[in-house]
Amino acid sequence: MKVDVLLGLQWGDEGKGKVVDVLTPKYDVVARFQGGPNAGHTLEFEGQKYILRSIPSGIFQGDKVNIIGNGVVLDPALFKAEAEALEASGHNLKDRLHISKKAHLILPTHRILDLAYEAAKGAAKVGTTGKGIGPTYTDKVSRNGVRVGDILHGFEEKYSSAKAKHEQLLKSMNYEYDLTELEKAWFEGIEYLKQFQFVDSEHEINNLLNAGKSVLCEGAQGTMLDIDFGSYPFVTSSNTVCAGACTGLGVAPNKIGEVYGIFKAYCTRVGAGPFPTELFDKVGDEICTLGHEFGSVTGRKRRCGWIDLVALKYSIMINGVTKLIMMKSDVLDMFDSIKACVAYQINGEEINYFPYDINENVEPVYVELSGWQTDMTKMHSEDEFPEEFNAYLSFLEEQLGVSVKFVSVGPDREQTVERYTEE
Ligand code: GDP
Ligand code: IMO
Ligand code: MG
Repeated sequence: MKVDVLLGLQWGDEGKGKVVDVLTPKYDVVARFQGGPNAGHTLEFEGQKYILRSIPSGIFQGDKVNIIGNGVVLDPALFKAEAEALEASGHNLKDRLHISKKAHLILPTHRILDLAYEAAKGAAKVGTTGKGIGPTYTDKVSRNGVRVGDILHGFEEKYSSAKAKHEQLLKSMNYEYDLTELEKAWFEGIEYLKQFQFVDSEHEINNLLNAGKSVLCEGAQGTMLDIDFGSYPFVTSSNTVCAGACTGLGVAPNKIGEVYGIFKAYCTRVGAGPFPTELFDKVGDEICTLGHEFGSVTGRKRRCGWIDLVALKYSIMINGVTKLIMMKSDVLDMFDSIKACVAYQINGEEINYFPYDINENVEPVYVELSGWQTDMTKMHSEDEFPEEFNAYLSFLEEQLGVSVKFVSVGPDREQTVERYTEE
């Protein structure tokens, strides 16, 4: 068997949680491979809404195995809060959630360092989620990290040594902080974590594949936030692209099967950094209001704009996307016209590839299409799609060279239309 990968093609918040939940019944295992509690994945069904941060979005569907892979960074305090809330709503996790021993722990001082680095950057700040993601991956790469497996061996010493290094750094930055509450919650989280199975997830996943089980890998963030290929330095600190599933789970490249690329019918971004199609007008405000574009974890207002096909083509190339999934088309239901960016104009020159430097000189070149002006939120089959919507889909498929397999017409699990594309 091969693993299928689902990932965001834009700047995150494309609707990954919803789609993983929809696809889970077809799989035996769902695995997260990078990121951490900077993610906020929303799922809605049976009138309930859940937001997951570190726990895979397969947790609501039957007895599937859910794995937190080695590429993930885990905050025990936030994990405990998330898991307890799920348990309280009747979702048992204990036997179905496995955690890689090689996943790195986010320490309380990583969170403080994240805030201190952002404060030091001033106007150039990234606008991070403040969850300690960057400092934890920094320690991983510089070989100073503390891992889940360390909880079982020599933990106190490793923790104290890492904390001492961080405190030295914070002192050199004259950054004031109070660790008391954070550290208390963190150690309670460590105790809580001990009831879960710590696994060698690379062995587990490969054994499951060899036994004919199917695996879906759930990306976090989006391709434009990838540490290598995103809009650096305004990115997160992990490889959000498909290759991240190989390194973040121990899956060989030739084991990757379907790659589902998910995008909104428009575009959003939260935090700082370039965003060529951003709208600063009434249309942008309308998209924000209709799409409820506020961060699911931080509550921050998301910046909104038209779909950017130059950036999407780049994401499709980097990830080897085999199927596209379009989200939130319902947000555009009542627009009389819709724009799509097909090229960039830079200093008078038109280019149709994603350049090294996206800065204020990048002017989007738009194609304008007719809106469908139809409420699509109750549609269940593509036979019901309005003509103008089909024309929009065909235009996207022609531009992007990959077919759109699913269309999401609302936040609920049921508001998902599978299209009849040939296999
Ligand atoms: P993720 O981080 O990629 O999982 O996405 P988020 O959960 O952060 O943000 C997506 C938001 O859009 C959530 O509030 C979802 O409930 C909502 N959503 C998902 N699909 C649709 C859709 O098709 N239409 C509408 N209107 N909302 C959607
Ligand atoms: P999901 O999985 C949207 C953004 C932050 C910031 C940058 C770096 O829900 O799509 P970090 O805390 O990772 O160091 O912040 O990345 N960011 C996200 N934006 N969705 C996310 O996750 C994000 N995770 C991080 O806003 O600009
Ligand atoms: Mg999100």
